[in-house]
Amino acid sequence: MKLNRAEKALMNNAVRSWIQRHYEAPLLTRLGGRCPGARAVEIGCGRGVGTEIILGQFGAAHVLAVDLDPGMVDLARVHLARFGDRVDVRVGDATQIPAQDDSVDAVFDFGIVHHIPDWRSALAEVARVLRPGGRFYFEEVTRHALERWTYRTFLEHPDHDRFSAEQFVAAVEDHGMKVADTWRTVFFSDFVVGVGVAA
Ligand SMILES: C[S@@+](CC[C@H](N)C(=O)[O-])C[C@H]1O[C@@H](n2cnc3c(N)ncnc32)[C@H](O)[C@@H]1O
Repeated sequence: MKLNRAEKALMNNAVRSWIQRHYEAPLLTRLGGRCPGARAVEIGCGRGVGTEIILGQFGAAHVLAVDLDPGMVDLARVHLARFGDRVDVRVGDATQIPAQDDSVDAVFDFGIVHHIPDWRSALAEVARVLRPGGRFYFEEVTRHALERWTYRTFLEHPDHDRFSAEQFVAAVEDHGMKVADTWRTVFFSDFVVGVGVAA
């Protein structure tokens, strides 16, 4: 589902970009390494900061970036214009990733799967497009956070089938991506960050 106005304001600002660049990307790199030369996908790219990080900090060669919200896609296209044909930004749904089976080296999820009512179908899509050995880098918001008063009052999320950190990691593994010990909870288990490797 699309973000409400409050969450758009929370996402589209310099503090969010700083956290992505200086906390989430280094933690994901420690857990799963960089992916130099990769053909990558970012699901739920928002205004495009994650794709910039995937190209720069992770060293990917090309990123297909999709987001459900045409307004976010417009922002991302402007933000990423300088990368030319290294990026392909499209309106799209993480439950129907526009890529062939086994064709992608890395998929990135910076806090989007918890917005999808049928979130397991997004994990199935990630598993479908990743080649064997390809990596799924995830940073997710757990049920623990979504049940807080602040989230319930100001933000909108699917209200059923929310996941804990352990349930999310188990579902990633159920879809054939090995996580083992390459995951962490962050901030009192409000967030889960990790990397799965496709079989
Ligand atoms: C919390 S924001 C995160 C944006 C960005 N990844 C970041 O970390 O700043 C979630 C994004 O996922 C998008 N989104 C929600 N459901 C989606 C879906 N089913 N497929 C693709 N994008 C989706 C929203 O429009 C929004 O831009």
